[in-house]
Amino acid sequence: MAVEKGQAIQPATGKLGVMVVGMGAVATTLIAGVEAVRKGLAKPIGSVTQMGTIRLGKRTDNRTPLVKEFVPLADLNDVVFTGWDIFPDNMYEAASHAQVLDRDHLGSIKPFLESIQPMPAVFDQYYVKRLSGTHVKEGKNKCDLAQQVRSDIQRFKAQVDRVVVIWCGSTEIFLEPTAVHQSVKSFEKGLTENDPAIAPSQIYAYAALKEGVPFANGAPNLTVDLPCMIELSRQNGAPICGKDFKTGQTLIKTVLSPAFKARMLGVSGWYSTNILGNRDGEVLDDPESFKTKEESKLGVLDYILQPEKYPDLYGNIYHKVRINYYPPRGDNKEGWDNIDIFGWLGYPMQIKVDFLCRDSILAAPIALDLVLFLDLAQRTPELRHIGIQEWLSFYFKSPQSAPGLYPEHDLFIQSMKLKNTLRHIMGEELITHLGLEYYD
Ligand SMILES: NC(=O)c1ccc[n+]([C@@H]2O[C@H](COP(=O)([O-])OP(=O)(O)OC[C@H]3O[C@@H](n4cnc5c(N)ncnc54)[C@H](O)[C@@H]3O)[C@@H](O)[C@H]2O)c1
Repeated sequence: MAVEKGQAIQPATGKLGVMVVGMGAVATTLIAGVEAVRKGLAKPIGSVTQMGTIRLGKRTDNRTPLVKEFVPLADLNDVVFTGWDIFPDNMYEAASHAQVLDRDHLGSIKPFLESIQPMPAVFDQYYVKRLSGTHVKEGKNKCDLAQQVRSDIQRFKAQVDRVVVIWCGSTEIFLEPTAVHQSVKSFEKGLTENDPAIAPSQIYAYAALKEGVPFANGAPNLTVDLPCMIELSRQNGAPICGKDFKTGQTLIKTVLSPAFKARMLGVSGWYSTNILGNRDGEVLDDPESFKTKEESKLGVLDYILQPEKYPDLYGNIYHKVRINYYPPRGDNKEGWDNIDIFGWLGYPMQIKVDFLCRDSILAAPIALDLVLFLDLAQRTPELRHIGIQEWLSFYFKSPQSAPGLYPEHDLFIQSMKLKNTLRHIMGEELITHLGLEYYD
């Protein structure tokens, strides 16, 4: 697909419709948070689109606008939410169940939250063993279900100006790409034949991309990380990104490990364990869903530390990740890391990290940034038809990249990539940090 250069970015006029698949802890924290910010009740902390700035030109130029004033993003007042879930609870009930935000916060926006009710979901317990829901679509095959989701999207499209879909649903069982995922044609055949390799998340992704709607994937499921979805995304000018929001432990891991590598310090072991008690924790207590998450969490170190290039430093690293379901903590996860490192002449040292975090408080601003940036990508001629938006790697544990290209995991490279992409599409000079010009 030809990349269109030099054409203007379409303005963000009118309403942006955000369709959330899976309206649980992350989704309700996102939706309630956006409304609280709109009402001036709280600040959008953690959101790069709302609070971040971007330096332009030389350090002496003193040009550092807010990101949202530099690129044409949808205004929060123009964002409208809907979505799907296997439970019929409205957003007030679902947020109360998730117990992330306190009663006072929710009470102040109760009528707004009560006005949003999920549409029936595409769901099959085979793919998420620990859940069973009643608010589910029925269809004669997977193709029929995809058509029903397309109709939902079409109805919503008629009420707003642009639409983005984001997966905030549960983690599905571990699946690998098969022949059915190799092209749009084989996928469509698989839909009519009810191919078991097609999970519900893929049905939503297919429906969105067929409708020319961008799709972000916040869970570690394959979903849009498949050749057929990349093909459809490029064809229909519907940008995609994924997988798995980078929120707590992995965020810290992708900050610390580049530091070790930059200083040429060795790592012999990294033991990461978590306790969490929300519904996500319950789903991940099933070994098949955990395997999907484990793969996503484990990849990070290998890519950052490059043991094949530094066998003396990282050739023998023992990396383990555990997640334990522990109901008393709810959404307030505790993630421990024990890191065994070694320095000059091989002398060992240890670092302990104990992150008492709040899962959905960390994830909600990521979800917000992703929908706003995907909408921007679709309005940007140079990004619209490229498929995977690798510049959004910053937000993911397991970032999608072009086939054959290894992903960038280092948070600071990812941040530079994101900001340079914004500079590039706005015709500003890229920042290399060379800085020799200050010493001419
Ligand atoms: N910090 C974080 O919270 C974080 C970080 C990275 C990834 N994630 C991922 O984000 C996802 C959401 O996390 P959460 O804490 O909000 O979980 P949650 O269990 O509170 O919410 C998930 C919701 O998805 C719904 N659901 C499941 N399958 C569905 C389907 N096929 N269609 C429609 N709805 C469906 C469930 O009913 C539930 O309400 C999980 O996959 C999680 O692993 C979360």
